[in-house]
Amino acid sequence: TKKIAIFASGTGTNFVALVQQLQHWRSDVSIELLIYDRKQAAVHQRSQELGVPSVYVNFTKYADKSQAETAMLQALKQRHIDLILLAGYMRIVGPTLLNAYQGHILNIHPALLPAFPGAHGIEDAFKAGVKVTGVTIHFIDAGVDSGPIIAQETVRIDPTDTLATLENRIHQIEHQLYPRVVKELITEGVV
Ligand code: GAR
Repeated sequence: TKKIAIFASGTGTNFVALVQQLQHWRSDVSIELLIYDRKQAAVHQRSQELGVPSVYVNFTKYADKSQAETAMLQALKQRHIDLILLAGYMRIVGPTLLNAYQGHILNIHPALLPAFPGAHGIEDAFKAGVKVTGVTIHFIDAGVDSGPIIAQETVRIDPTDTLATLENRIHQIEHQLYPRVVKELITEGVV
């Protein structure tokens, strides 16, 4: 069985899309765990509604990132997690997790990387006035939204777009692309 953990910090719409589209896809693929790092994050509520166990990691409780990640690693190992999907996880993954899950951590970013990395990819592209932006799925490395790109889908920015309408379209693409790419990678035995 392919056991998946999702890391998230916020609203959790990608978490929901992943759970809904992967959970019953194949009996040998299962979303085992949500790890979240903001106590009030809406994604926690969503995990409860969907019956996915969750672990809250309070980073302020640990001396440094490596200690927090050691605790995370313990939760992951306990559940025999094979694959980690970052879905709006607003931290840089450190060497403790990177080394343990090399090649088995994916991220989604709401822009066409390497353009507009960081926490505000949609807004940064909108403000820059580019006519095309999009969504990227990539393996992570030690950088911010960097690492080998797996898939990208473009989204046009129309003159009539507001930041809100653009955000909507990007999110819709995200919710289709991420589960689809994960399915393909699992099917091909890549992750
Ligand atoms: C998503 O748009 C995701 O691409 C982005 O955070 C949002 C989370 O939304 N991630 C990044 O910006 C990573 N740098 P969600 O909580 O509703 O899934």
